[in-house]
Amino acid sequence: MTEYAAPAVAVIVVAAGSGARLGATEPKAFVLLRGRTLLERALGSVFGMVEPAQVIVVAPDSHLSEARVIAAAAAGAVASYVDVVVGGPTRADSVNRGLAVLRPGVETVLVHDAARALTPAGLCDAVVAAVRSTGHGIVPGLALVDTIKHVDAEGTIRATVDRSALSAVQTPQGFPRGVLLAAMSAADPAGTPTDDAEIVAAAGHPVGVIPGDPLAFKITTPWDLHRAEALLDERARTDAAAVGQQAEAPSPRIGSGLDVHGYDDASPLWLAGLHWPGERGLSGHSDGDAAVHAICDALLSAAGLGDVGGVFGVADPRLEGAHGDVFLRETLRRVTAAGFRVGNVTVQIIGNRPKVGPRRLEAEEYLSGILSAPVSVSATTTDRLGFTGRGEGIAALATALIVPLIPLPETGPVLSWDV
Ligand code: CTP
Ligand code: MG
Repeated sequence: MTEYAAPAVAVIVVAAGSGARLGATEPKAFVLLRGRTLLERALGSVFGMVEPAQVIVVAPDSHLSEARVIAAAAAGAVASYVDVVVGGPTRADSVNRGLAVLRPGVETVLVHDAARALTPAGLCDAVVAAVRSTGHGIVPGLALVDTIKHVDAEGTIRATVDRSALSAVQTPQGFPRGVLLAAMSAADPAGTPTDDAEIVAAAGHPVGVIPGDPLAFKITTPWDLHRAEALLDERARTDAAAVGQQAEAPSPRIGSGLDVHGYDDASPLWLAGLHWPGERGLSGHSDGDAAVHAICDALLSAAGLGDVGGVFGVADPRLEGAHGDVFLRETLRRVTAAGFRVGNVTVQIIGNRPKVGPRRLEAEEYLSGILSAPVSVSATTTDRLGFTGRGEGIAALATALIVPLIPLPETGPVLSWDV
């Protein structure tokens, strides 16, 4: 077995936040960005560093095993130097949980937000080099372009701040191990720091700024996620053009799905993923959610993956009473694994009851959150004609558009070591 030195650098990737401002159903680090989670993409930068590092992923308790799978896959040959720990209620708590598992040989510690998913690996290298050459903390920062105003509680501008003296700082932020550990243990427990430099500076240690990178922006809101998608698409087009391939985007694909369930007075009604108290339920082995089943059929057929009956079976005991999210998540997983992302989905509910209009937005938000794509819900009656018109049941008709994921170029080989 080849002997390699144990890593002198550690990177703590904090991924334990809920992502309230992004508003997805998954915690932010587990939201998909063009088919890969933000965590997986952030780890891609970290494992692209020139120097091998101990990588510590701090994940939410609910997603620990998922984080382990993602981290192990990203680490490849160096999986034995990856640790996954549970985060805490605040970012600083999460950093502390990561610091607790630092390995003995580590001298420089970087703390990096998983939410900065497109950070170039070179920025991590630059932070490490600057920490070593200065012997103190280093953060990447960008000059501000907007004019900055100091505004009081009433919303009145009090002053224009001299922006030439300001920097919008990013991560990874790097520190000598001893400095960061001492500062974190001396930190004010009542404080609400939003980065590590604040804690280190408050403890009286100098922290320098090096040029940041616009690509290291933090994905905070849905708009940021769209920006990241657009950047990845642009990168893929440029790369395709550079190797002489056609830069044309691959064609999207559509699929349609229909499902029907009869009313069953003994069951509660679940439709479009929502529970409808006081309404007649639908019969079925699962919860009878015709709208969700039609969506799954549309997605599966668009991807050429068969249909709901074939994928889930009609009598699987694990699916007895299962709600729509179970079907949607598994369908999305299969569609993504087949190399597609969901463009958009529409579903029309056909029946006399329930009245969908008052809860249409709620249903759309719920379904869109699961599929990370716009889902439109509409409804109609059939003028008292046919089985829906006679009030015997509900039908739902869905159409889905899916888009082939543009393959991204492989990143360079991961440097590895062994013990
Ligand atoms: N983070 C963490 N533990 C926490 C809070 C935040 O590990 N208790 C991580 C997040 O996962 C993210 C980084 O810190 O990678 C930056 O935080 P932020 O962008 O604020 O993420 P969230 O706290 O998840 O988002 P929000 O504030 O919108 O809820
Ligand atoms: Mg936060």
